[in-house]
Amino acid sequence: MSKKVAILGSTGSIGCNTLAVIEALAPDYEVVALSAHSQTDLLVAQATQCRPQYVAITENGNFEPLKAALGDFSGQILAGPDSLVDLAALDEVDIVVCAVVGAAGLPAALAAAKAGKTVAIANKEPLVIAGELLTTAARDNGATLLPIDSEHSAVFQAMQSGTPDEVRKIILTASGGPFRNTPTEQMNNATIEEALDHPTWDMGPKITIDSATMMNKALEVIEAVWLFNMPAEKIDVLIHPESIVHSMVDFVDGSMIAQLGTPDMKVPIQYALTYPKRVKGIAKGLELHELGQLNFQLPDLNHFKALKLGFEVAKTSGSAPVVFNAANEAAVAAFLDGKIRFGQIVELIDHCLQAHSPQAHLTLEALLQVDAWARQEVHQQLTQKTVIG
Ligand SMILES: NC(=O)c1ccc[n+]([C@@H]2O[C@H](COP(=O)([O-])OP(=O)(O)OC[C@H]3O[C@@H](n4cnc5c(N)ncnc54)[C@H](OP(=O)(O)O)[C@@H]3O)[C@@H](O)[C@H]2O)c1
Repeated sequence: MSKKVAILGSTGSIGCNTLAVIEALAPDYEVVALSAHSQTDLLVAQATQCRPQYVAITENGNFEPLKAALGDFSGQILAGPDSLVDLAALDEVDIVVCAVVGAAGLPAALAAAKAGKTVAIANKEPLVIAGELLTTAARDNGATLLPIDSEHSAVFQAMQSGTPDEVRKIILTASGGPFRNTPTEQMNNATIEEALDHPTWDMGPKITIDSATMMNKALEVIEAVWLFNMPAEKIDVLIHPESIVHSMVDFVDGSMIAQLGTPDMKVPIQYALTYPKRVKGIAKGLELHELGQLNFQLPDLNHFKALKLGFEVAKTSGSAPVVFNAANEAAVAAFLDGKIRFGQIVELIDHCLQAHSPQAHLTLEALLQVDAWARQEVHQQLTQKTVIG
């Protein structure tokens, strides 16, 4: 029997890579549901190619154009943000690939965990803001959370060499992004094009900007806290510009276990789909002799202030990670709209964290209120100041 997969966010970078992996794994894997937000044409092309039973479009205004373009499509067409929750809980789905960007993916990730699915999670923001709710829902309902993020996939693989209490440190690697060697003042005034020019990974725009600020690594530290049930104090970050060693686990006996591979998301995507098996993949293998050398250095936390803030936030639970993430989402959108300078992304996040009164153990409703407050606070800051200067 083939494994039935729902891809939430199939039109994004992770979504398209997942489709390529599943095509190569056919007939053992089959796509039964796809979702997009704005890219109706790409969704139609994907649906025509793999004939799923369900397609969903989350931006309401795109429903009629999608319906018209799908023509004689025989499956069901769903619309609106809640349609992702319906796809995540479908009886016929075995694996839900969470590849939506941002906190918008939270309700569906939670629904997949509550429905006891195998949840292959690329969408890190829900884990950052609702790690406690998500991991509890997975545990209580027999769901399996499997990381797609390359660093967490690497840690997950390395963890199989020991037990959690034998871990001394988890070490997440980071490319350092395009501004690793750029003077701080120059980085703070970087253009959108410069910030989107990632040296090693080809990804969606939001995560590419997060990589340039190193906010991505800050979010990943919090993601690792929840995925591996480890205190933040046991998680380190090491800059590794070649993006070949995807992360490592340092065990108490002095052994460090790392996972290596080319910087290609098809590798961790496939591992999450086929776990615990490994099968022949379509990604290029690694030829270490072609690389010659691999480099590692500690990150400069005065240069990458988002990472410094992230280490502090990761030591807390409750509302601070929600503010941290929501302020970043709003600030990155403002940067990509040309409304603020690059350096103001982290200033706005810091401002929101300072202005916020922390709360512990949030319900989903309380969490969404905090999320909305932080986004509003960023917008208020933008209207109060002439921010580009
Ligand atoms: N890209 C990578 O290599 C990579 C690596 C590790 C982790 N991740 C994580 O994986 C997630 C996806 O990243 P990505 O790079 O694939 O992003 P992306 O290319 O921007 O794709 C995002 C996907 O989410 C959909 N979407 C956007 N806004 C939405 C909303 N409000 N509601 C529902 N769907 C929405 C998009 O639909 P439309 O395109 O149709 O608008 C698209 O299908 C992120 O959380 C990221 O941090 C990505």
